[in-house]
Amino acid sequence: MRLIDAELVESRRILPGQWIQWYHAPALAASVRAGQFVHVRTGDWSGLVLRRPFTVNTADAATGIVSIHFREVGRGTAWLTHLRAGDRLDMLGPLGQGFQVDPRSRHLLLVAGGLGIADVRLLVDEAIRDGRQVVLLFGARDASEVYPSSFLPDELEYVVATDDGSVGHHGLVTDLVLDYEAWSDQAFACGPLPMLGTLAALAAGRTKRLGVATLGRKRGAGRPIPIGSAQARRKAYLQVAMEQNMGCAVGACLGCVVWGVEGPQRVCREGPVFAANEIDWEAAVGAGAHKR
Ligand code: FES
Repeated sequence: MRLIDAELVESRRILPGQWIQWYHAPALAASVRAGQFVHVRTGDWSGLVLRRPFTVNTADAATGIVSIHFREVGRGTAWLTHLRAGDRLDMLGPLGQGFQVDPRSRHLLLVAGGLGIADVRLLVDEAIRDGRQVVLLFGARDASEVYPSSFLPDELEYVVATDDGSVGHHGLVTDLVLDYEAWSDQAFACGPLPMLGTLAALAAGRTKRLGVATLGRKRGAGRPIPIGSAQARRKAYLQVAMEQNMGCAVGACLGCVVWGVEGPQRVCREGPVFAANEIDWEAAVGAGAHKR
């Protein structure tokens, strides 16, 4: 983690109320991993200076360019949309625990609901770079909120579901998952809590439905792997990126806690990526954690 001086290269509104901004930040581009985030210091017209967390959307170590994708929801994000090329801001990061891909996984299923695509977008690039096959299932309310395919690599299979059926599958994105569960070695998701809860329930029943061995069953069989460890997450079929409002983003304020099966978990430190079986879904969905 370090304090990074980032220079805005380009700012573009890609969907109603949603923006992608590209920043020149070589140290961040070289070190960030999919699922990690930065805490950005924004100007605030109230006179307060508050940082906002943003998952790193893309990162190119060769050019030193990183991007963030956000929805304009308050004064901090509104301030960001007024920045122009050449403006600078400071980013603290990379922060948090990113996605853990098992080296043996060849087929990755990514599931994103709405702005949750920002959390899995970098994983698309990393997986394709590493020679993996990737399917991205994306869910939105209607066609006006569908993430543009022009922002995705050609190697990706991109499947869309909309609530009103205006584009792609008519229904929930989770309806599509069973078509890919036998194909996929691992799955990674981000989106609204009910979506994640549904995916977690599907993942819990997957082994029984498919009647297949899970990854890594032979290696280290019998030795307990601590829940929440990188190794346990790497072995999990489903990992989820949790979204919470944040205060400090470094583990001190407990403002970002979600309920795990082994007690409270700080999204900024133990997360934002967790194995699905680490989360107490009944408590988490019931609490209705806020999207940031
Ligand atoms: S935001 Fe302060 S502990 Fe996570």
